[in-house]
Amino acid sequence: MTTPHPASLDLPGKVALLTGASMFTLRPEPSIGLGELRMSDGPTGVRGMTFTGGRTVALFPNATLLASSWNTGSAYEVGRMLAEEAVAQGVHVVLGPTINLHRSPLGGRLFEAYSEDPLLSGVLAAAYVRGLQDHGVGACLKHLVANESETARHTVDSVVDEATLREVYLLPFEIAVADADAWSIMAAYNRVNGVPATEQHHVINEIVKGEWGYRGLIVSDWWATTSAAAAANGGLDLVMPGPAGPWGAHLVAAVEAGEVDEAVIDDHVRRLLLLAERVGALGERPGKSPGEQPRSPGEQPGKSSGELPAPDSPVRRAQLTKLAAEGMTVLKNEQATLPLARGTTVALIGRHAVDTIDMGGGSAQVNPPYQVSVAEGLTALLGDAVTVVDGVEVRDRPVPAAPGFAVHPVTGEPGVQVMVYAENGTLIDERHAASGATMIGIDDDLPEPPHVVRLRARLPEGGRVRVGGIGAGSWQVRAGDHVERFELALSSGDVGEAVLRPPGATTLADVAPGDVVEAEVMPASTGPRGKRGLYGLAAHPAPDDVESVTARAVSAARAADVAVVVVGLTEEQETESVDKTTLRLPGAQDDMVTAVAAAARRTVVVVNAATPILMPWLDQVDAVLWAGLPGQEGGHAVAAALLGDIEPAGRLVTTFPAADGAAPAWSVTPEEGRLGYTEGAFVGYRGHEAGRAPQPAFWFGHGLGYTTWAYSDAVLLDEQGRRVAVTVTNTGGRSGREVVQVYFRPDDPRQPVRLVGWQAATVPSGESARVEVSADPRVWRRWDDERGTWESLPARGRILLARGLGDVRATLELTGR
Ligand code: BGC
Repeated sequence: MTTPHPASLDLPGKVALLTGASMFTLRPEPSIGLGELRMSDGPTGVRGMTFTGGRTVALFPNATLLASSWNTGSAYEVGRMLAEEAVAQGVHVVLGPTINLHRSPLGGRLFEAYSEDPLLSGVLAAAYVRGLQDHGVGACLKHLVANESETARHTVDSVVDEATLREVYLLPFEIAVADADAWSIMAAYNRVNGVPATEQHHVINEIVKGEWGYRGLIVSDWWATTSAAAAANGGLDLVMPGPAGPWGAHLVAAVEAGEVDEAVIDDHVRRLLLLAERVGALGERPGKSPGEQPRSPGEQPGKSSGELPAPDSPVRRAQLTKLAAEGMTVLKNEQATLPLARGTTVALIGRHAVDTIDMGGGSAQVNPPYQVSVAEGLTALLGDAVTVVDGVEVRDRPVPAAPGFAVHPVTGEPGVQVMVYAENGTLIDERHAASGATMIGIDDDLPEPPHVVRLRARLPEGGRVRVGGIGAGSWQVRAGDHVERFELALSSGDVGEAVLRPPGATTLADVAPGDVVEAEVMPASTGPRGKRGLYGLAAHPAPDDVESVTARAVSAARAADVAVVVVGLTEEQETESVDKTTLRLPGAQDDMVTAVAAAARRTVVVVNAATPILMPWLDQVDAVLWAGLPGQEGGHAVAAALLGDIEPAGRLVTTFPAADGAAPAWSVTPEEGRLGYTEGAFVGYRGHEAGRAPQPAFWFGHGLGYTTWAYSDAVLLDEQGRRVAVTVTNTGGRSGREVVQVYFRPDDPRQPVRLVGWQAATVPSGESARVEVSADPRVWRRWDDERGTWESLPARGRILLARGLGDVRATLELTGR
């Protein structure tokens, strides 16, 4: 069909379409057949149109874990499954993939993005986008551009020279536009070289829409737009969320005043209508859901419509286990400690073993049907041979009550009862918060402003508990005989903090088994739009001291054939809105590993974190398996990887520095508002290789898998080095998957080494495969800023075939042009 022409609407009618109707929906316009277009956050699950308490949906492995497979087929498959998850709930656009790069390892949001390498990020993103869009659901590349850290994220000015911007940070966007024609792109919160990303005429109009010929829609990050004329002229097409926002009447006035040409508005509307057409929200059936099987209005959470797999169906379980386990990465494996043989007795130790972290924090969070811990997963495979020992504390901040520990006092369902009262004492809302927390003033439409929120839960086990409140406001907490009052304030007054990182406080109390604990809060105001934020009840068993925990771990380790210690980060470090300050593991986890390693016959460490950590105990342990944030099937996937039922064939997507600060880009703190990308194109392994940072602990591309490989007969297939071939022989005892990585090290020292291509081969034990790899021309060029053009790099330098740059298997000289 032909997209309706925006001329059939008057100016206010057109402008009205260019701001959202709600948090995640756009305005329908029946007169032109435009239905309600719905968006949902991604990228590792389709959360739906609310922040918390929404529908139950599948939780996928996080982006770095998925990317570690270096497998475009898997990325496509993830996109396809996410399209199913979207269709099942009537969502037209999934807000992902996140394709910012891992610039500094401190970035809090790296877990959501694929890699430090622009080619790997772009090629995987393109496959993921195709997987979504081939099935009728729009993708949204985010966040355009130079949005690699979270500190002062609404104001930071990323200062990036033009060549670096194009060669490195824009490249994943360029690839995903050129190779997959992503239907939308999200403009970031930050500024780029002094100009807000939502007003970036240079990036949006000149490069993306101009040079790349992009036809899709540019949507603002949520609440990012601060101007009318500047943003509309800068190429931003759509302001989110709505209905309030800086456009509306201001933009109409700007057009009437001649500051914005009406043709600019028409272009924005045309792009919006093209998106609507592409996702099936435009046409004879306005409002129809994407795909063929829209959700019926009364459908229950957790059930899926039509033939689509439910989030907890056997097919989803198998898919998610495989995706997670295949990306897990063997970083060290002395004397073939891994895979563990069946029959081995295992002391499984660590807070992350019993409370495995399956996703990062912030807008990427979803409400999964269940989450399998490593303890559950390994016990399911090994039964009594596993002894589970909880580990040391890994968090500083209070977290909402775990569903098993707290139940609704009336219904007995896992979770917390929430009652919201108006100022006159009327009950205006009652909810069940399965996760222990709920959003106030964001997902709801309360008849009157909330004045008091009461959270109640029964604690079937009781005992000595740590109980408290989460959320800004005046609190009163009652547990057993204990009553405590406290004031919790936001440090910034920013609604983002109220939603993503609310303050919390707890107290210790003795609670009889089955007693009800209760917390009451008068929420603080978070600005002109009233009281908004996340509110939760904290209730957990009181923590044990480090010495007793470690003593139990050590004694279990002594008694078993092997100790498996699961360590990691939590949503306190890996989250939207804050950055890390160190790569050290939180709490006393390092000391616990050291103590266990000294006592155990063999020690395996499983790292449950998406991004680099420091491993001061590396020399003392026998094996290290990096497991990422593995999604709802996490524990099953870790168990399958540990036992070798699925080969953890991952290769790192980010370099692991050897110490804090030992990376080419480190600080994420703006100075006078500016964050200089001074390392230029020498980010990650590129900078380490050039000697701009010390040797890393593990290189980008490193990963041992469960077999060994010999490389032979490496040859250039053309003089330019654009195609190479090599024979890889599986010299180990089991079938495996090898990722042949090809790097180009130009002669010119101003040009960093770079990944130019890769190809994977699955080869049975003792057999060989001839593998050909083509270089992507988009990493074989440099931006000549003086002339304003791309220039192909001369074919002078070396081609390296490597299993990460710490293990180069063949070097081919390039002497041509
Ligand atoms: C995030 C986006 C997200 C949006 C909507 C923002 O805070 O930066 O990635 O899509 O919220 O939830």
